[in-house]
Amino acid sequence: MKETHCLLTIFGATGDLTHRKLLPALYFMEQEKQLKDSFSIICAARKEKSNDQYRKEASDSIRKFSRVKVQDEALSKLLSRIRYQKIEFKNNSYYASLKNLIEEISGIKCSHCERIYYLAVPAEFFGDIITSLKEMGLAGRQESEAYNRIMFEKPFGHDLKSAREMNHAITSVFNESQIYRIDHYMAKELVQNLLVLRFANSIFEPLWNKEYIDHIQITVAETLGVEARGDYYDKAGALRDIIQNHMMQLVSLVAMEEPKKFDIEEIRNQKVKVLKSIKKIAKKDISKIAVKGQYSKGAVGGRDVAAYTEEAEVKKNSRTETYVALKLEIDNKMWKNVPFYLRTGKRLRDRTTEIAIVYKKVPFGLFSKQKPVKNIMVIRVQPYEGITLQFNAKVPGNKVIIDNVDMDFCHECKFGPNSPEAYERLLFDAMNGDQTLFTRWDEVENAWKIIEPLLRDFNDLNPCKYEAGTWGPIEADKLIEKDGRKWIEPKRPSYADQLEK
Ligand SMILES: NC(=O)c1ccc[n+]([C@@H]2O[C@H](COP(=O)([O-])OP(=O)(O)OC[C@H]3O[C@@H](n4cnc5c(N)ncnc54)[C@H](OP(=O)(O)O)[C@@H]3O)[C@@H](O)[C@H]2O)c1
Repeated sequence: MKETHCLLTIFGATGDLTHRKLLPALYFMEQEKQLKDSFSIICAARKEKSNDQYRKEASDSIRKFSRVKVQDEALSKLLSRIRYQKIEFKNNSYYASLKNLIEEISGIKCSHCERIYYLAVPAEFFGDIITSLKEMGLAGRQESEAYNRIMFEKPFGHDLKSAREMNHAITSVFNESQIYRIDHYMAKELVQNLLVLRFANSIFEPLWNKEYIDHIQITVAETLGVEARGDYYDKAGALRDIIQNHMMQLVSLVAMEEPKKFDIEEIRNQKVKVLKSIKKIAKKDISKIAVKGQYSKGAVGGRDVAAYTEEAEVKKNSRTETYVALKLEIDNKMWKNVPFYLRTGKRLRDRTTEIAIVYKKVPFGLFSKQKPVKNIMVIRVQPYEGITLQFNAKVPGNKVIIDNVDMDFCHECKFGPNSPEAYERLLFDAMNGDQTLFTRWDEVENAWKIIEPLLRDFNDLNPCKYEAGTWGPIEADKLIEKDGRKWIEPKRPSYADQLEK
């Protein structure tokens, strides 16, 4: 890390994200000695609090949510870096106090002070905060000296129009090189591993195209409902919450062509090329390629759970989708006629994020009587990070009987349990000015363009109901089955028990 003073200001520091993710991530970085002595943190939010009060709450959250055993010495050191600042996002006078604190901490004459602003706040406040930072002289398009960076949480906009407006407001104050749009899926180890898997293995790379691949399935399944975020979720829905960002990132990484070099802009260019090649969704086709679902009551993990419309802060007559199944086609040479089936939902049977590459059947019929299955490679992003390759093998004995067997790569068994958590990696990279895992504006814009027709259509559509604790509505099964295919039931890998011991 460069020897400069670094000041992180977190807006929304009393919120769920800060307490569950950011503070524990900062603690881990402290324990790992990744923070320089001169590093400081300002935690800003609306509630009135003393420094001591905030540090006590931060300490409780770190102890509760840290993924590593908390050491008192490292915790005290981290807490000593924190100052609390009351702020009202829409009231300019509070920014004057914030400016005083920033200057007091960094030293007004400090010419090498890197400032990072982390907006862990609802998106409706992005514009107010940026404008006030600019007016106070706390932010601007700078490439050197006091280098300001800004980090944003998803969702980036509510639709294409609002995303463009938001981006316009941001880029009038910051250069693209100062903007860090977070999609925390990008920081997951198995997502980063995708490029290595594809481009560093001659057994996979030549087969990664329409000649050998029948179709691709991507599943992002949650067992959770909306928890305490009913108000946010009811306005967002699964299209905005998962498909527009996380799933479009996964599609572009799976489908992109090999970048000429391992260079951030080159990788982003290839990802954007994929997004631009996704076939435009025509209104007349929506009912054939998309399913909108919403959970009704049921049981998840042996526990009875309420219907979506009974959740706190959700409208009783809400039509918001908690489930989406979608068939996409990529109109280029590499993927012609290879469908990408996506599905995501809340209150599903199991929690999993996985990508299944389903290969074509062998062209010859030597063993056709024995009914060999299609080869499938499952890339498990979470939980049980790893890769499973399913292939056909002969069952021992005199007769030729074929069974399908799994070859498992368990990430944690091989590399240990201490892979960086997504927010540790994202904060570390932002502090180091590395934008590789962050989303460039044209990625966000093109992802919105893809789902825009669905957003409009879904607005007027009643959702198909599915029982909580199942894999989604029956209509989603029909969507894939009419193409002669089936959803691949996520399964526990052979090493799951070993990890849970
Ligand atoms: N939570 C997650 O797991 C998660 C995951 C991915 C993305 N995100 C995104 O991250 C952002 C924050 O989410 P969150 O769940 O942490 O939200 P949250 O729990 O509602 O926290 C919102 C924060 O903003 C502050 N705030 C709200 N209105 C304010 C105002 N007018 N002036 C000053 N402060 C104000 C609140 O301060 P007070 O408490 O003092 O009022 C609180 O600190 C959102 O954009 C969300 O979509 C969250």
